[in-house]
Amino acid sequence: MEEIISREPRDLGRALCIITGASKGYGRTLAVQLSYLLKPRSILLLVARTMDQLNEVKDDIMALDDRQKRLVVRCVQADLEKMEGVEKTIQAVKETSPSELDHLLLINNAGSLGDVSRLALTFTDPTEVNRYLSLNVSGVLSLTAGVLQAFPRCLGLQRTVVNISSLCALKAFPSWVLYCTGKAARDMLFRVLAEEEPDVRVLSYAPGPLDTDMQVQARCCSGDLKLRRSFSSMFSAGQLLSCEESGAKLMKLLLDNDYPSGAHVDFYEL
Ligand SMILES: NC(=O)c1ccc[n+]([C@@H]2O[C@H](COP(=O)([O-])OP(=O)(O)OC[C@H]3O[C@@H](n4cnc5c(N)ncnc54)[C@H](OP(=O)(O)O)[C@@H]3O)[C@@H](O)[C@H]2O)c1
Repeated sequence: MEEIISREPRDLGRALCIITGASKGYGRTLAVQLSYLLKPRSILLLVARTMDQLNEVKDDIMALDDRQKRLVVRCVQADLEKMEGVEKTIQAVKETSPSELDHLLLINNAGSLGDVSRLALTFTDPTEVNRYLSLNVSGVLSLTAGVLQAFPRCLGLQRTVVNISSLCALKAFPSWVLYCTGKAARDMLFRVLAEEEPDVRVLSYAPGPLDTDMQVQARCCSGDLKLRRSFSSMFSAGQLLSCEESGAKLMKLLLDNDYPSGAHVDFYEL
């Protein structure tokens, strides 16, 4: 990553950058990679439930900030499945009003796989389904709306919203009804946003199969045997991507900034 940046001396401007699910996995890597691309005195808002891990990410970023960029890193402990968590995050965004901001960047990365051990016909309890959708769809819309309202259209301010998507937004996987439904809904949500708000840059990025805790759950717990075996063999064959490799392509997409707003872009297309 450092190599990419030193070869291409580009940046994302003086930004307020909000990353959900920044405590571990992909979000953690994205937070670190973004920190390299921000102009001095930019602000990173890291959101998740686990404060200790958020603080570790903050320490990592501060330790790497050896170019005197004076980045401000703020951790927000919030459960985005709950209304209070979304409100707390929006409040933290509102309280963060940097001067001379030229980029607002929201990365909707937090997510869960849901119970992948069961088939669709077992989901007879709407409370369980609603709970899943609350974190993975409703909360994403409410947070995005709240953040964009807090920073309305303004001359000289670029506003970018990223949805961390998946192949599952496009392709049905047996025993993954919650996850596939959530990811498909999120993609559509961001397509509508792109239509309604032409000045907002909207991107759904499918990062490819990542070596994270979510993958462990996929290969251990998927109810569909064929799917479970295929995840296990991808792992054994070393075919999972590192978060760094996938994140570097997202960073390039953001820097190039020439994707059609609302598009679904997959790691393997680039
Ligand atoms: N791993 C893959 O192969 C893969 C493939 C395609 C797409 N993706 C997508 O990439 C994104 C990141 O996945 P990952 O693999 O990094 O997953 P992960 O390792 O399970 O990390 C999930 C992140 O989301 C946060 N989170 C979970 N529930 C939350 C809640 N209720 N409130 C706030 N934060 C919450 C977690 O933090 P706390 O637990 O601290 O709250 C954690 O930081 C997800 O949107 C996922 O769907 C992953």
